Parts: sequence; C-alpha cells; structure tokens
Amino acid sequence: MSKQPIGMFDSGVGGTSIWKEIHELLPNENTIYLADSKNAPYGIKSKNDILKLSVKNTEILLDRNCKIIVVACNTATTNAINYLRANYDVPFIGIEPAIKPAALRSTSKTVGILATKGTLSSSLFHSTAENHASGIKIIERVGTGLVRLIESGKVRSIETKTLLEEYLEPMISAGIDYLVLGCTHYPYLIPVLKEMLPEHVKIIDSGEAVALQTKAILENNKLLNLSKYNPDLQFYSNSNLSVLRSFIDDENAKISSLEF
Ligand code: DGL
Repeated sequence: MSKQPIGMFDSGVGGTSIWKEIHELLPNENTIYLADSKNAPYGIKSKNDILKLSVKNTEILLDRNCKIIVVACNTATTNAINYLRANYDVPFIGIEPAIKPAALRSTSKTVGILATKGTLSSSLFHSTAENHASGIKIIERVGTGLVRLIESGKVRSIETKTLLEEYLEPMISAGIDYLVLGCTHYPYLIPVLKEMLPEHVKIIDSGEAVALQTKAILENNKLLNLSKYNPDLQFYSNSNLSVLRSFIDDENAKISSLEF
C-alpha cells in the first residue's frame, strides 16, 4: 500500500509549487501530478464546472492507484473538496488561503489576499475568514489574468507586473503587513511581488502547511513509503508540455502528455 503514489492535481502548472513542498518533505514518495492546463483557469468557472473537473481529475488518479489525493488548487478545494471527501474513500488534502496565520501575525490588523474569483466567492473561504479573521480588515483582490499569464510562462512580463500593480495598490494604500497568496500559481510570482511590495510586507502561502498535513495523514493511516529507492515522479499535462517542463527542476521527473 505505501508504495502507491500520492496523486495531485491543479488547473495547470501552479500546483507544482505544492508538489515541490511535498517532494522536499517526503522525498521517498512516488507521485503523480496532473496539470489540467487545457481547462485553466478554473477560477472563472461555475462551482458545478469546477466540481466536474475535480471529479474527472480524481478518477484519473484513482485509476492509477493513488493512496491519497492532494487537491493542489485553492479553487478546486474551496468548491469541491467536501464533495470529493463524501464520495471517494481515499484521504484528500486540500489547500485554502492562509488567512488564519496572517490574521494572527498581523500587527496592522490589515491583511491582503490575492486569489481567484472562484476561491473568494466560495462559502468555504467566507466561513474561514469569519472564523479566523474577526477584527482584521481583509483587502481581497481577484487576480484576474494572472493564471493565464503564468500558464503561458510569462511570470516576469510587463503584462504581469502591470496587473500586479493594479491589484496591490489598494492593499498597500490600506496598510497591509501580510499578503496571502490564495492560488497555487502565485508562489511563482514571489520574486516579482517582493520587488513591488514595501519591505515590511510579508508574503504568506499555504504550501508548507499542506506538505506537513500530507505527511501527518499518511503517518496516521500507516501509508508512508519507507522505501529508499528513487521515487517514480510522473507529471502529465493535457496542454503545453514545455511550459510544465519549465516549472519542474528535477532530473528524475517524467513529464508526458496525456489526454484528459
Ligand atoms: N492554482 C489554482 C488555485 O490555486 C488556479 C485556479 C485557476 O485555474 O484559476 O486556485
């Protein structure tokens, strides 16, 4: 059982930021990563469409015998994880914007959050914000266009910087001291964001927490892979393979095309 892979999916290449955290913490684990770039961005789709895409990805991973599924996408987590948990037997790990740690640490009591429309409009996001950030001013911005640019490999382009300037301006004016990245594509923007934000503003994402949670759930279920062999690291994209390749820097990675 423990040699079965960890399955992961995202609307595209963004979830590789989560894959990296998991692989660093659990280097013996076999993994299968699905980049559903053909259907990106998920963030502008209806809840029902996000649900259908999440089911499709889950079934591909279960057909390949995954022992646990990491939904490496905030949009899919906030819209579909309750359904997935209720309908499939494997454990699911989700990712949600790290509002709670940002709210706890903020001294200006003002926190910015950049995420997709699908995440910010979800009821799961609203209940997390209500439960964990009362007394905190949250400046939300939908990162319209950012996923599309990252999916095209344009992380450092003028277009990307122009959009970020527009999204960050109201947050900076409001006096944020934490910026929460609520989309797994956005950690790839951190070097650009650091150049644009005032020095005292800290950037926070949920990647490390997701990796720790994945390890804990595998341990509790006696599913950790204790083998010392090089792991099998499979990556599949249903769109531009070279973009996916440019986000994975691991000589053992097997990156292939797949229709799904
Ligand atoms: N990586 C996805 C997320 O975390 C991006 C969603 C999208 O495709 O719009 O939300």
